[in-house]
Amino acid sequence: MVSLPVNEPLLDGNEKKYLMQCIDTGWISSEGPFVKEFEEKFAARMGRKHGIAVCNGTAALDAAVEALEIGPGDEVILPTFTIISCVLQIVRSGATPVLVDADSLTWNMDVAQIEAKINPRTKAIMVVHIYGLPVDINPVLDIAKRHGLRIIEDAAEVIGQTYRGKPCGSFGEISTVSFYPNKHVTTGEGGMILTDDDELAETCRSLRNLCFRPKRRFVHERLGWNLRMTNLQAALGLAQLERLDEFIEKKRWIGRQYNELLAGLPGVQLPLPATDYAESIYWVYGLVLDESLGFDAQEAMARLAKMGVGCRSFFYPLHQQPVLREIGFFEGEQYAVAEKLGERGFYVPSGLALTEKQIDQVALACRNVFG
Ligand SMILES: Cc1ncc(COP(=O)(O)O)c(C=O)c1O
Repeated sequence: MVSLPVNEPLLDGNEKKYLMQCIDTGWISSEGPFVKEFEEKFAARMGRKHGIAVCNGTAALDAAVEALEIGPGDEVILPTFTIISCVLQIVRSGATPVLVDADSLTWNMDVAQIEAKINPRTKAIMVVHIYGLPVDINPVLDIAKRHGLRIIEDAAEVIGQTYRGKPCGSFGEISTVSFYPNKHVTTGEGGMILTDDDELAETCRSLRNLCFRPKRRFVHERLGWNLRMTNLQAALGLAQLERLDEFIEKKRWIGRQYNELLAGLPGVQLPLPATDYAESIYWVYGLVLDESLGFDAQEAMARLAKMGVGCRSFFYPLHQQPVLREIGFFEGEQYAVAEKLGERGFYVPSGLALTEKQIDQVALACRNVFG
């Protein structure tokens, strides 16, 4: 049986046309003109002064942490329920990640837990918007202001989402996004760093490009990376950006369809459609299974796979990650909500290319498994 993929992008706008322009002109490297155009248009859409295109969202986070000079002795507060990308450079830099649990309804970081984790070593809060609803960010900004903390905002999953009418990606001193094919704007692989700060933007541009010095190219005063995005990727991104509003509308339509078709399934928690600060954009359509169901997400996904429905498990909490525990982090720490999400959460096909018929097929399979 051909399986319904968990995510399929829509590439039927100007993607081919812009890619052909790269090939026809020979501009395929990061020096090509689409990179700058994509950076400017994307940053403008996010309400930011600077956009620095990079090779993926993980790299964008790495550069953000390095640009803020986070290092040994520093602590960074972040959600335990997130992707490993968020913590990598914090750990590699010698800083310490400090975790907060998730909210059981929005699945975002529980902002009420942040303040208790602050101490004189705390340098930054990394805010990560998860799965479709933004973090309730105003209280986080207040806390950061009161304690003099930096804010990194990971808006990878919420391109096109707003918080109280203002774009997600516009709140961090440095914000980052990913353009992986399951995101609302894809470049195949890619990411962007967003900031209004001229100096931070310059630092990030330099870190992206091996810290070549403008005057003496091959003399280096800082350790950088090659994080450059190619003109080919930016060509795709531009074509995708042109359709962002349409994509968000489609995602919300997919969410509403599932909400209707899956309502009332016993023991299954569906995504929260809205809060007082945002309406979900259902980046992925997640289900969380109650303990009463007697089987977990792995088992549910296996059963759905047999019916041709591709699913993916939720993130596995950072405090349970073997690689981080081995380093010595999070000894004895428990975060009940994130642990439940990690064990009992998964998402069904949620990509932009989904059709009504496919959604019906997924819903029918779910009713079969959980009904
Ligand atoms: C919240 C979040 N941050 C960062 C990333 C990493 O992005 P990339 O896969 O482009 O490295 C992802 C990827 O899905 C993500 O969901």
